[in-house]
Amino acid sequence: DPPMSDILTYIDAGVATLTMNRIDKKNALTAAMYAAMADFFEDCQTNEQVRVVVVQGHPTVFSAGNDIADFLQNPPSTQDAPVFRFLRALSTFRKPVVAAVAGPAVGIGTTMLFHCDLVYAGDNAHFAMPFVNLGLCPEAGSSLLAPQAMGRTRAAEALLLGDPFTAEAALEMGVVNRVVTPTEVNHFAASQAARLAAKPMASLLETKRLLNAENAQAVQQRIAEEAASFARMLQEPAAKEAFTAFMEKRLPQFH
Ligand code: COA
Repeated sequence: DPPMSDILTYIDAGVATLTMNRIDKKNALTAAMYAAMADFFEDCQTNEQVRVVVVQGHPTVFSAGNDIADFLQNPPSTQDAPVFRFLRALSTFRKPVVAAVAGPAVGIGTTMLFHCDLVYAGDNAHFAMPFVNLGLCPEAGSSLLAPQAMGRTRAAEALLLGDPFTAEAALEMGVVNRVVTPTEVNHFAASQAARLAAKPMASLLETKRLLNAENAQAVQQRIAEEAASFARMLQEPAAKEAFTAFMEKRLPQFH
């Protein structure tokens, strides 16, 4: 299990809030943290006390994505790995999810947002999907969802070059709903979640189902297809070089 404080959760007035709280490592996500996040979403799916979920980080950082050291030590090799269990739980979650993002949102820190219903960003937010730079490929359905959300031309830039984009760009592309100050973002997400929590649950559930209906099956298929490639590529020399270079604080050398 992760130290209890790495993933904080609480439920209040119909809203369940998950806070990534490993600030000293920029909220890099370990297998143990993914397991806690998967458990949280699985519990929230069936817990009648929960009508809406909020996912948030800290005003200085949302998440640096997969913990690279942890990934080297225990790479996710099967569909039961915590990261894939988390992605399944999030991507099939039936209740509304609100995200509050400030500071860096890297890798799965960005791709998880494509599965959230409302995304609010601090003006310090920056997003990146540097999978290619790590010798990997897109995950979390992002090869399908990023082009849908951003348009293919911008998704190609973000996914092939791994170039980051700002909160302002994310707003303009429709990847986030609104930009506020970093210290306001968690509070604003909570207030939007409270508005949702006051609405009739059956209408929320059916509306979310209908919003996702066209995509739902394709998303699950794409997540599985990406996961198989991602797991294979993790074992290959390019990823090993990229991850080792990150740990050694140097640039990778691929050719
Ligand atoms: N995995 C493991 N450790 C990570 C990490 C990650 N993904 N991201 C950050 N850390 C650690 C750093 O190694 C550093 O640890 P140290 O203090 O023991 O040296 C600490 O978190 C602080 O990170 P640092 O890079 O100094 O912070 P920053 O503010 O300069 O930059 C980021 C923040 C998120 C932009 C930068 O850390 C980064 O690019 N991280 C890697 C992101 C990534 O490639 N994720 C994988 C996607 S699949």
